[in-house]
Amino acid sequence: MSRIVVTGGLGFIGSHTVVELLSNNYDVVIIDNLSNSSTDVMNGIKNITGKEPELHLFDLNDQVKVLDFFKNNKDIAGIIHFAAYKAVGESVQLPIKYYENNLFSLVNIMKAVNEFNLNLNFIFSSSCTVYGQAEVQPVDENTPSQPAESPYGNTKQICEEILRDYTVSADNLNIISLRYFNPIGAHPTSEIGELPLGKPNCLVPYLTQSVAGVLGQLTVFGDDYNTPDGTCLRDYIDVIDLSKAHVAALQKLENGKDNPKYDVFNLGTGNGTSVLEVIQTFENATGEKVNYRIGPRRSGDVESVYARTDKAFELLNWTATTPLSESLINAWNWEQKIRGIKKEQNVLQSTM
Ligand code: WQD
Repeated sequence: MSRIVVTGGLGFIGSHTVVELLSNNYDVVIIDNLSNSSTDVMNGIKNITGKEPELHLFDLNDQVKVLDFFKNNKDIAGIIHFAAYKAVGESVQLPIKYYENNLFSLVNIMKAVNEFNLNLNFIFSSSCTVYGQAEVQPVDENTPSQPAESPYGNTKQICEEILRDYTVSADNLNIISLRYFNPIGAHPTSEIGELPLGKPNCLVPYLTQSVAGVLGQLTVFGDDYNTPDGTCLRDYIDVIDLSKAHVAALQKLENGKDNPKYDVFNLGTGNGTSVLEVIQTFENATGEKVNYRIGPRRSGDVESVYARTDKAFELLNWTATTPLSESLINAWNWEQKIRGIKKEQNVLQSTM
């Protein structure tokens, strides 16, 4: 079995991708520093897959530990690099925290891979925020990036450039950057899901925690944008679809046929959905009422970003299939489980 390192493997997208990798008979090695996750996630992974991946708890900013890990694990076949801070709003308030963590962790990995000349397939967790506020929507992989609207988005732009430049001079890595749009949802078993430590910055976890009574009223950040209902448009992609895309990308690199040394794929649904539409879809799907108010715009937000998805369909043979309502029901079922809310589990529309 190919041994795949998953950095940030106890995080939201990382843990769901670990489940998908294990289900596809990969041997998984997780590296995580628990800055936005907990070892409880391992129980969820085990309960779903019956397997327990190797776990190394250290910070990728610790260059000595990174070198030591790769020195002792030269048999790995691939790396999927999720580990990064990812909240747009927070990055505007704490730019140095984001530049240090998101850039140095990647540089340390690249230095180790280079030091031991490891031949690897490398998948980078990138983001639609690299597009900034693109003039034309939907954005495709050739859409020129505008200046990032947040330090978070800028770290993703810079990391993509580091990876692209590395492949110009070295040929030991085959690299794909996956540009996620807005990941949401949870595993249908409610064994794993999104659990940001502290107050969530993102819409869906804030919404489900507000409905669960963990947080107060949801604030919609602005309804004066140039969009149909005045609230921002995003491309909300289900985390299970996203995890399947990572396996598809890895398998494309493993198949090796005429792959460029560096490539980029959008991972989205192709649909732009507004904040108010997310709220309405959640209420219709769960029967719950969302208590919200309209507040001022949040700095760092772009008005609209959603994906052209042709390239992933054609070259990864992948497309998102989960309806928004199903993602929101899974997110709500997960929230109810972790808060011990004993309502009847919402039945997914598709199983009605
Ligand atoms: C979505 C919309 C907010 C919270 C995220 C991730 C980033 C990247 C892209 C993967 C915006 C509005 C939010 C709230 C609100 N993903 N909102 N009230 O900023 O698009 O970025 O997806 O790499 O990692 O952060 O997502 O969920 O924060 O915001 O009105 O309490 O919801 O203004 O329009 P964002 P988000």
